[in-house]
Amino acid sequence: MQDIFKQYLHKKVLITGNTGFKGSWLSLWLLELGANVYGYSNTIPTEPSLFKSLAIENKISQVYGDVRDLTKVKATIEEIKPDFIFHLAAQPIVSVSYSSPVETVTTNVIGTMNVLESLRILNYPCTAIIITSDKCYNNVEWVWGYKETDGLGGEDIYSGSKGAAELVFNSYYHSFFKKKISNVRVASARAGNVIGGGDWATDRIIPDAMRAWSQGKVVEIRSPEATRPWQHVLEPLSGYLNLGAELSQKTQLNGESFNFGPRAEYNRTVREILENLSVHWHFSDPNEAYTITDNLPFHEAGLLKLNCDKALFYLKWFASMDYKDLFFFTGDWYYQFYKTDTDMNQYTINQINNYIDITKNKGVTWAQ
Ligand SMILES: NC(=O)c1ccc[n+]([C@@H]2O[C@H](COP(=O)([O-])OP(=O)(O)OC[C@H]3O[C@@H](n4cnc5c(N)ncnc54)[C@H](O)[C@@H]3O)[C@@H](O)[C@H]2O)c1
Repeated sequence: MQDIFKQYLHKKVLITGNTGFKGSWLSLWLLELGANVYGYSNTIPTEPSLFKSLAIENKISQVYGDVRDLTKVKATIEEIKPDFIFHLAAQPIVSVSYSSPVETVTTNVIGTMNVLESLRILNYPCTAIIITSDKCYNNVEWVWGYKETDGLGGEDIYSGSKGAAELVFNSYYHSFFKKKISNVRVASARAGNVIGGGDWATDRIIPDAMRAWSQGKVVEIRSPEATRPWQHVLEPLSGYLNLGAELSQKTQLNGESFNFGPRAEYNRTVREILENLSVHWHFSDPNEAYTITDNLPFHEAGLLKLNCDKALFYLKWFASMDYKDLFFFTGDWYYQFYKTDTDMNQYTINQINNYIDITKNKGVTWAQ
């Protein structure tokens, strides 16, 4: 095991939003690291779901509850007394934020406040990583990567909710957790646009394609030339795990925010990534994998890049996966799921180990 991740061995780790895409991958990785994993989520959000495919509920202690319910969040944290919390519970879909703005704002903002408030009241030793998004930045559509000190917010509801979650995090830190008497350490983590096996959320391009292709249909895409900084889900998760482990050891990271994004040269258009993925689905002509529609139901912001120098400086973290590995890991995961009898739990563990090997070979410090 990597030295840095020994911090999680036999520790109690609570993941909110553990039944979702990132939460399921994070649960599996933490179980592999020997942590005692606890989950808090309102429901299992999709069918199929990674959480069910990996039978995670059998390996952890699960609580079902709404993150907006302060009484329940507080009681859960008080009972578990976790050493670490990864707060991922959120309404994370941009299209849903237009149809359900109140649910989006209350879940993303009040939910974050409830986790922090529970920690404030209980005040026992705990390291908490608050996961927001690259969308927390006010996207002024410039060509540079956003730094952690750049302006927060944004014109759309989802961006506003993630910017507001960051503001709540920052003021709780300064008002309560900065003090020497506090036992709580907090940091926030901002990543964006992750892909990987086991995501079945609505209105995300990769799950949409996989659902369509598994039924022998073509996928409809809105903006084929939209460029996104794609990264595999294991990249930011390695960042979150590094941040949690380092923060538990180093007070100087308390209250800090970190970006976790891919290298700039991994920006690709939607068309390119679908063409690359279609190879794993044995399309003879990639153009048969998708059709283009003019239907643009809501405004989508342009390219938003992250500057990740701070994570490199303090955590020695950088994204390590090559683009070819990114779409192989993703395309092959879904292909194995839909078209073979592969044991997906073991296959997913193998992907985590392969990712660690790739990272180690790139000389990234945490993986040595
Ligand atoms: N997937 C991405 O590309 C991406 C990009 C940037 C940031 N993020 C952030 O990462 C986090 C996890 O995202 P994901 O892709 O795994 O999302 P997901 O939709 O797969 O999972 C969301 C999780 O939150 C839970 N949840 C939702 N509302 C809740 C509520 N009211 N109370 C309790 N639990 C609730 C769901 O049950 C689920 O477990 C979110 O904060 C999201 O904004 C994701």
